[in-house]
Amino acid sequence: MSNIAIVGSISMDLVMQTNRIPQEGETVVGDSFSMVPGGKGANQAVAIGRLSNKSDQITMLGAVGKDSFGPLLQANLTANHVCTQHVGTLPAPSGVAQITLYQSDNRIIYYPGANGLVDPNQWRDEWQVITAAELVVLQNEIPHHANLQIAHFCQKHQIPVLYNPAPARETDLEMLDLVTYFTPNQHECQELFPDKNLSEALLTYPEKLIVTLGSKGLTYASKNQVQHIPAIKAQAIDTTGAGDTFNGALGYAIAQGLELTQALRFATLAAHLSVQKFGAQGGMPSLEEMKEHPAYEKAWHFE
Ligand code: RIB
Repeated sequence: MSNIAIVGSISMDLVMQTNRIPQEGETVVGDSFSMVPGGKGANQAVAIGRLSNKSDQITMLGAVGKDSFGPLLQANLTANHVCTQHVGTLPAPSGVAQITLYQSDNRIIYYPGANGLVDPNQWRDEWQVITAAELVVLQNEIPHHANLQIAHFCQKHQIPVLYNPAPARETDLEMLDLVTYFTPNQHECQELFPDKNLSEALLTYPEKLIVTLGSKGLTYASKNQVQHIPAIKAQAIDTTGAGDTFNGALGYAIAQGLELTQALRFATLAAHLSVQKFGAQGGMPSLEEMKEHPAYEKAWHFE
């Protein structure tokens, strides 16, 4: 297994389940409430850590706040084989996501807290972690300037970057030429390329632009042709974190040397398993769980 560095958000998800979304000015009674670890960065790190099952190869870089969530969020990463040596504790609240779960789908309000203070200008040893990585994974819940600085560094040092531009920001396109893989969902893709239809955008960035389509799977371009990989049908309990599971599993498979199409198929299976349990990280599979699934392919040959 290769070294993978994930730079991104580490948050606590406050999840309320409801059978009705309140109208403006209305209060409805929730069906359940849970606090579970989340944050797109941490979710992707946990997805990789669970698949790799080795504690010395997956490193999280980011920050938690000086509050009661901080130690819980760090302990969760450690329990999932993610090294937290370079997770800082900053004088701010930990990141929080307020999630309303309605009919297995989510609506999220995210407050960055300490995640918004992640600043590579303050890094020292962290650059060595990046230099030693065979893949760096980024998302959009830390400041854009941080992502940009890391992506420039990686380009200079020829370190591949998997960038998941979620949630979308206007500045995301500045990252496009610097990264190896760019994985928006369809909605994010439309915002980024308003003048192109999906096929045109994909064909402009073959084997780089990978657009996830939710329950329809994903699409990308290879050999001058648009390719489509369908999702595996699932009885979804909670789709929160499905994209993070996909990105984490994709990063794991690429770092393991799988060719892109196979890596995308592997990540599709991981996302399929993830939506069948509650919580962003609740359904993220281990490699053993992947291998037990009938859709697991022999070609993946992971040990
Ligand atoms: O992608 C899902 C994640 O996004 C949640 O865990 C939540 O933290 C939100 O920010």
